[in-house]
Amino acid sequence: MDRERCCVRLSVQPSRGLVDEKFVVLVEGALPGVQLTVRAAHQSEDGHSWEAFAHYNANATGAVNVAKDPSLGGTYSGVEPMGLLWSLRPVPGSIPGLRMRKMNIQTPMVVTISVYQGQLTEGFVDEVPLASVVVERWYMAPGVRRIPITEGGLTATLFLPPGPGPFPGLLDLWGGGGQLVEYRAVLLASHGIASLALDYLTNKMVVETGKMVDNQYFETAYSVLREHPQILGSRIAMLGLSFGASVTFKLAVYSQVVKLRCAVCIGGSHVQLVEGSVEQMLSVFNEHANKTRINEKNEVIWRDLVLPIPTDPKLKVDVGRIRCPLLLVVGEDDQSWPAHESAMDMKEMMERAGNSNLLTILSYPNAGHLIEPPYTPHTRASRFREFRGNQTFMALWGGEMVAHSRAQEDAWRKILVFLRENLYGGSNPGPASLSNL
Ligand SMILES: *[C@@H]1O[C@H](CO)[C@@H](O)[C@H](O)[C@H]1NC(C)=O
Repeated sequence: MDRERCCVRLSVQPSRGLVDEKFVVLVEGALPGVQLTVRAAHQSEDGHSWEAFAHYNANATGAVNVAKDPSLGGTYSGVEPMGLLWSLRPVPGSIPGLRMRKMNIQTPMVVTISVYQGQLTEGFVDEVPLASVVVERWYMAPGVRRIPITEGGLTATLFLPPGPGPFPGLLDLWGGGGQLVEYRAVLLASHGIASLALDYLTNKMVVETGKMVDNQYFETAYSVLREHPQILGSRIAMLGLSFGASVTFKLAVYSQVVKLRCAVCIGGSHVQLVEGSVEQMLSVFNEHANKTRINEKNEVIWRDLVLPIPTDPKLKVDVGRIRCPLLLVVGEDDQSWPAHESAMDMKEMMERAGNSNLLTILSYPNAGHLIEPPYTPHTRASRFREFRGNQTFMALWGGEMVAHSRAQEDAWRKILVFLRENLYGGSNPGPASLSNL
């Protein structure tokens, strides 16, 4: 036992990296064959404690390599190099419905990796680890510039990649929760794509006037991006998730101003009032939301939102008219939007219109609605407050942890390839990495 305490070494490489970078966790100097527990602990910005842990047996030389050796139990099992991150979950006793979201992207996500003697499943705070390493996971690579944008009444942040530019640009939209959420845009900038995170539901103008944005707000955002001296105005993409994907479909097809090189839509639906304003689009969803069912776990199910997919052309975006490459990312266990059904309908529409050569669908069995950057802990359901709603409820997003985590890793890699191919015209700027910058 003393030998364990004195000699066990733990290393994590890189200990400072981007959130979507893999790391290698290595334990050395243990007794051959001894049982060990490796644990990751994280305190989120909103003050909640998260953990993940796994049981390993040291090999004949007293080592465990988390990237190569199987977990025998814990919050994940089998060989899972990044399981210590994607299986993070709130510690026992936490309030239900937490979701991990980084709001201050100028600081890293800090994770403490520790190794303990024996097979522990609880009571970690009372145990002294054999060794610990503090790991920093960044959304923002060194050299990325963060520029708040207020021009044209926008509430937005532009992230410029390191280097002289100009860069291709991207307009990044999140869904119905509103807020200025920056972590995906800054991560894209860390990978060479200048990205504008846009708050379009809870932005300053809306707060001051009480009126929702009109379609022009998005066109203003696009124009600000296009005219920026550091942006290649003819190389602009859009990326939207959930309601942000609905807006993306609409702009890509109907806007006279927005000219896109390509679009990425995650968990989105083309079913919407085509002639409608943002307000009308949302009220249709809210009408359905009021009719939601609640399951035995008190989770609200939106599954019947806009199903079956209507045949009335006024009720869906005519994707047959899209003129740029479109990447759809859908989870087949999406419990909040019929994204999969919508994707199948879009595929048919595009085939009929003869533009299906522009369409790529990434469809993931057992993945849910919130397909986020790699290693983001899976959240099957979380407390959700709609931007205007005065009530908070449990939203069921769906997905099964392992499949969902694999989907996030695969989708992100393919999204980056898709964006680079279409925005850089095939030339690859190379992945940014804290360890090689
Ligand atoms: C034990 O694992 C370490 C780290 O993966 C490796 O370098 C070493 O070769 C392994 N020893 C044996 C006997 O397999």
